[in-house]
Amino acid sequence: MSLQAIILAAGEGTRIKSELPKVLHRICGRPMIAYALDLATSVGIARPIVVIGRGADLVKAHLPKEAKAVIQPKRQGTGDAVLIAKRALETSSSGDVLILYADTPLVRRTTIQKLIETHRKGSASCTLLTAHLADPSGYGRIVRNEQGLISGIVEESEVHAAHRTIREVNIGPLICKTQALLDALLVIKAKANKELYLTHIVAHLAQQEGVKISSIRAEEASEALGVNTRSELAKAIGVIRGRIVDSHLQNGVTIEDMQSTFIDHGVSIGVDTVIHPYTVIETAVSIGKRCSIGPFARLRSGVVIGNGVRIGNFAELVRTKVGDFVRINHMSYLGDTTIEDQVNIGAGTITANYDGESKHPTHIGKGAFIGSDTVLIAPVKIGAGATTGAGSVVPKAHDVPPKGVVMGVPARLFDGHGAGKSSLKKVAARKSAGSASRPKARLHAGKAKKRSEPVRTQKTRR
Ligand code: UD1
Ligand code: MG
Repeated sequence: MSLQAIILAAGEGTRIKSELPKVLHRICGRPMIAYALDLATSVGIARPIVVIGRGADLVKAHLPKEAKAVIQPKRQGTGDAVLIAKRALETSSSGDVLILYADTPLVRRTTIQKLIETHRKGSASCTLLTAHLADPSGYGRIVRNEQGLISGIVEESEVHAAHRTIREVNIGPLICKTQALLDALLVIKAKANKELYLTHIVAHLAQQEGVKISSIRAEEASEALGVNTRSELAKAIGVIRGRIVDSHLQNGVTIEDMQSTFIDHGVSIGVDTVIHPYTVIETAVSIGKRCSIGPFARLRSGVVIGNGVRIGNFAELVRTKVGDFVRINHMSYLGDTTIEDQVNIGAGTITANYDGESKHPTHIGKGAFIGSDTVLIAPVKIGAGATTGAGSVVPKAHDVPPKGVVMGVPARLFDGHGAGKSSLKKVAARKSAGSASRPKARLHAGKAKKRSEPVRTQKTRR
């Protein structure tokens, strides 16, 4: 039996008070509508119909190319939105249609699978998803008759004394026989005065002979949350954030403080990595095994981290690849950078990757030692095993050769016989002209002891 899906995303979103369409507000690194699109994909619907209206062009830009976008010219209710989608439906008398609301991002895939299964096993005409809430205000209430059968859904604006005790609410998603749904909508449309509520089909269907309305209850009450206001948006972000953290815990990652760890959707973290408090990991980040991240670290999109890496407090990385066993322990900004294995990035290292017009790359070779407070002005390459002295400013395009040692502002090459007065450029020019250079300035003694070349130089100087 065929299954199609309609995602309702055209609403005005008045209550969220925003210039941005409600369904584009972000939840853990992705727009709200992405959660409904994922649900459709997860039950095998390759080409969902998406009804868009408010900010249609903006919303359309966030849809996958397989989606069929349909424009609802006037926001005349959820029922009107479904009728508008009719032209994109393949009407087949035997098929079902799944309706998803783009503003209920907490509904789980397993719940939608169960909704479809229940609908089909019970040969229902329409199957609803409900929840029992201590405070049902704002939601459509499920009305049942003495036999416990659903007789209708009453919207908040229609609630009267007889409904005040109802705690069962309509979460939104539902599955219906396509033809029964369209027929019911046309009937209730004839009676509607202003908005056409999709939920009013239920009372109509309940009165038909031989029509079965079924329902399932969501596993968790939190799935019911509809995002209409900023406060509901904040709650939804909190729930999804908790789910993401849980999934990493289950995968063998230690998260020291769940409350202060912010991990977006689309992040992978290897086993035995420890995430310390107050860490923000944005979408499209991958972290290897046995790393230590934070406290107070921010990893932005496009960061790929190897194994055994330490990233400490106040480090911000973006679009950066980090090799194995790299140390970035304190206060650094690394953007558009490739860092090979076993590099040490000293406290206060900054890549100046943006010149006001474009972003430029920095490459730091294997085993390089970047001294504290180094500024690397991109584009620039630091060779394998090279050292920058504390406070160095390495100018753009002044690449440091493998095992080279530089220091100063602008950084000058230390060639093994004392540090240079010349800039890197002059040294490079002299080398190509065949002249021997004898730079004199002193390298930072503390760092020099660790590296082979500076140590030799110190001995020479003694
Ligand atoms: C709706 C349900 C209510 C349910 C609640 C769950 C109706 C009439 N009511 O109320 O029973 O408990 O969701 O959160 O359906 N939309 C359109 N076109 C429109 C109007 C809305 O596409 O003309 C879309 C919105 O973008 C949104 C969804 O439909 O994604 C629901 O609309 P909304 O106005 O938020 O309905 P609720 O008042 O929350
Ligand atoms: Mg809503």
